[in-house]
Amino acid sequence: MTESELKRHIRGIPDFPKPGILFYDISTLLRNAQAWKAAMAAMAERITPHRPQVLAGIESRGFLLAAPLALELGLGFIMLRKPRKLPGATIGLDYALEYGTDRIEMQADAIAPGQRVVLLDDLLATGGTMAAGVALLRQAGAEVPAAAAMLELTFLGGRRRLDVPVETLLTYD
Ligand code: PRP
Ligand code: MG
Repeated sequence: MTESELKRHIRGIPDFPKPGILFYDISTLLRNAQAWKAAMAAMAERITPHRPQVLAGIESRGFLLAAPLALELGLGFIMLRKPRKLPGATIGLDYALEYGTDRIEMQADAIAPGQRVVLLDDLLATGGTMAAGVALLRQAGAEVPAAAAMLELTFLGGRRRLDVPVETLLTYD
């Protein structure tokens, strides 16, 4: 499937979650097995050259990509979760949003020192979430050769906040 064919499976919903925001909804792509599979195959192609040993995904929508991709590539999968969801010893990172702050956490023992972890999310917008994810993985001892997202809102310049290569499949400007 070409980029424009895949884009046909993603709809823009105006004024969600707030007036003036155009929300790119991946639900319609996930509902279509063929489109989801094609998107995952294209993502796998972009990620493989970075030679990951493990994939990490960011709750919630990042899980929808990272878990099937990890299986497809024969890799393990690590969850970066919203606060207080993970059992056992965790490490976390607070990060700034447009209004207020958010926090992500992971299990402290999830990564072996120096393990190559590629971080996945569905969407790169301002890049705040992805940058926090990379920083947290490094805090856990990971080497992060790349990050990847299925969608990128290029007009927000999110990739400038990241100091790793960012692979994205479908861009919106
Ligand atoms: C959305 C999206 C990314 C993040 C991108 O997640 O799934 O994770 O925002 O925004 P940023 O680049 O500006 O940080 P959201 O917090 O809406 O939660 P969800 O994945 O649980 O739906
Ligand atoms: Mg998210």
